[in-house]
Amino acid sequence: MNKKFYITTPIYYPSAEFHIGHCYTTIIADAIARYKRLSGYDVYFQTGTDEHGLKIENKAKEAGVTPKEYVDKIILNAKDLWKSLNISYDYFIRTTDEDHVKRVQEIFKKLYEQGDIYKGEYKGLYCVPCESFWTETQVIDGKCPDCGRDVNLVTEEAYFFKLSKYQQKLEEYYETHPHFIEPESRKNEMLNNFIRPGLEDLCVSRTSFKWGIPVTFDEKHVIYVWIDALTNYITSLGYPEETEKFKKYWPCDLHLVGKEIVRFHTIIWPAILMALNLPLPKQVFGHGWLIIDGGKISKSLGNYKDPREYINTYGVDAVRYYALREVPFGSDGNFSESALITRTNSDLCNILGNLVSRTIQMGIKYFDGVVHKSNKNEDIDAYLTEYIYNLKTMVDSKVESLKINEALECIFELLRKCNKYIDDTTPWVLAKDESMKDRLETVIYNLLEGIRVSAIMLQAFIPETSEKIFKGLNLSDTSFASIDELVEVYNLGHEKPANLFERIKED
Ligand code: MSP
Repeated sequence: MNKKFYITTPIYYPSAEFHIGHCYTTIIADAIARYKRLSGYDVYFQTGTDEHGLKIENKAKEAGVTPKEYVDKIILNAKDLWKSLNISYDYFIRTTDEDHVKRVQEIFKKLYEQGDIYKGEYKGLYCVPCESFWTETQVIDGKCPDCGRDVNLVTEEAYFFKLSKYQQKLEEYYETHPHFIEPESRKNEMLNNFIRPGLEDLCVSRTSFKWGIPVTFDEKHVIYVWIDALTNYITSLGYPEETEKFKKYWPCDLHLVGKEIVRFHTIIWPAILMALNLPLPKQVFGHGWLIIDGGKISKSLGNYKDPREYINTYGVDAVRYYALREVPFGSDGNFSESALITRTNSDLCNILGNLVSRTIQMGIKYFDGVVHKSNKNEDIDAYLTEYIYNLKTMVDSKVESLKINEALECIFELLRKCNKYIDDTTPWVLAKDESMKDRLETVIYNLLEGIRVSAIMLQAFIPETSEKIFKGLNLSDTSFASIDELVEVYNLGHEKPANLFERIKED
């Protein structure tokens, strides 16, 4: 049986339409999921939406609709966005799904009955837009440390999860599983800022709003966001029922999350799992933010465009490539339309697109579209041919360590080498000399091999473009396994290939 790989994005709040920041996490998760599928894994890739809470209740009220009507519309749009970005998720969970609701209630009851949840009184400083409670030490000048707006002091009867009980177990877990949290800096942050100073029990129910999952044994309470939201990763598999799906895919291999929710995924979520006596996810990776003009792109600040505008203007793969290539995964990075244009022109248009169209055109012009495998490589060919057949090993190791931008850099290094090889071998000069016909065929063949292997490696990242290249090369087997099976003869046909990317002029 194939090895399995379970990967998730966070479930997003459908409090407003999604922006390029949500696309960022989802595109990266998609590329990893596709890469693992191509590597032979049985992949389960999950995304979804986190639909309950006061903020959405309020937004719906403002819009004059029910919360469910409010989120339904945004989710329809989100699914359409994922489709236009070629996101290949296997499952889309909504926290309003009946199955999820029932399972969360069962989990809550189980934790209550075993004493991990108890009733108490909550006092806290609450930020409505962020749906976050803060302690006195966390607020900055009386304002929410995330969004800078006012927080209110709230007191209410509430249920609590005994988070404090898991402090030592968590610390031990971090120690024995050094790659549980990546990058390393985020792990240290969790240890030093949260775990070591001491964990407080966590408030997990609310009576101040209605839009949530009711506690079955105390109906004036709704289950507060984190137990409802975090459990999505197991309820979608059928838990608490020990379904085949659950047995197959749990524990999750990789939770991709933004840096501000690392805490929830590496402290609260593992503690809940420990209480449920379930294995912990293998890894939580906390990535940075895409920022605009030094600030976070934010639905509540409204400083963003609908990502479909970028897709419609520049093409889906320009957007995917930018998200995957521009920012070292883990760090914050600036997003700007002009950087998107520069990236598309320099890499996709100049390095990739021109190479593909030039090479195919030479194949058609000099060999009537039929280019045979050559056994007559010369020394000067080695820098190209060796790199071609080593590429997969390099990219594998980059993807394994989630250095996605470096994985792409390795592939583009091959494309650069191909371009250099054209300059070094000057096919147009060889073409003038009939006695150099064999040499010319070797050169074109090596270039086609470089393009073939690059396109195979690129298909997890920019699938639509790879597909076009496969068509241009008339290639049927595009599996990873086919890389080392050198093509005997390329039949390129006679049609001049369409440009993969048009050069974008910046206004
Ligand atoms: N609903 C919670 C997650 C629950 S997971 C069990 C949530 N939702 S969110 O919609 O606010 O954010 C979801 C994810 O999107 C987070 O990982 C967040 O970091 C990410 N991003 C939101 N804006 C972003 C950027 N500007 N850049 C990169 N990622 C960003 O938190």
